[in-house]
Amino acid sequence: QTLSERSIRAVAELIKDGRAKRIVVMTGAGISTAAGIPDFRSPKTGLYNNLARLNLPHPEAVFDIDFFKKNPAPFYVLAKELYPGNFHPTISHAFIALLAKRKLLRMLFTQNIDCLERTAGVPPELIVEAHGSFATQRCIECKTEFPDKEMREHVERGDPPSCIKPGCDGLVKPDIVFFGEQLPKDFYDAAAVPAMADLVIVLGTSLTVHPFAGLPRMAMERTPRLLLNMEQVGDLGSRADDVLCLGECDKGVRSLADELGWRDELEAMWTG
Ligand code: OAD
Repeated sequence: QTLSERSIRAVAELIKDGRAKRIVVMTGAGISTAAGIPDFRSPKTGLYNNLARLNLPHPEAVFDIDFFKKNPAPFYVLAKELYPGNFHPTISHAFIALLAKRKLLRMLFTQNIDCLERTAGVPPELIVEAHGSFATQRCIECKTEFPDKEMREHVERGDPPSCIKPGCDGLVKPDIVFFGEQLPKDFYDAAAVPAMADLVIVLGTSLTVHPFAGLPRMAMERTPRLLLNMEQVGDLGSRADDVLCLGECDKGVRSLADELGWRDELEAMWTG
């Protein structure tokens, strides 16, 4: 048995004996790669390494608000590929939904814009979409909302829509947070939640983008933190009660479900 397997068992014990019942989950693109959505920074497969065809000054420009104002086309090329509706949640998404079903999820902080947490059945009131989502869109100038159906058509065509308000003509952008933009109010409203957690689970994120990257650190010093990720990230591993389970998060989640005796329920939830 590996160290991480023994440690996964220890985390499962915390949940089973009721010491962990206000679980805060923090996640990123790594939980959706198994669904077929590329993450951003993985070597070879990450989006940022595969944008040469868009002729960007630097990869992150595709999500930069100032760049978008000058040239929205590259973003709309990507939007077509990333648009929700074509993907199914992973077992990691289902696990978060199962925590919620068992009333153990205090809050999910996600950086993902694919809406797969909702699709998997995590109640919307327990989700903080820190980087917004593709669910709604508006004019970047006057903020008038743009209708969903027309948006879908524009995205399909790769054609940046403009504002429907007469005389405005501003560019329309999905309500995802670009570099250079404020995070949603939700995020700041929930900023005190990590400190109330009795267990933190971080999965599928490189923890490189702030302020999100600072969230795990806001857990109390003695609160156990479990990392399910391909690589070690942030300050995870620096505290005595941190548990690192490096590898595919779906595999880590299945081990945890096995230890909890939840495996069948989890697989059933996942396949719907
Ligand atoms: P990244 O691409 O930066 O990081 C993904 C992390 O997940 C990496 O540490 C991978 O090793 C890991 N990973 C990938 N597949 C995995 C798997 N199957 N199992 C476990 N781990 C896996 O993605 P984020 O951290 O989400 O922001 O990126 C943060 C933000 O940067 C995004 O929200 C986006 C981007 O710029 C905006 O666009 C505003």
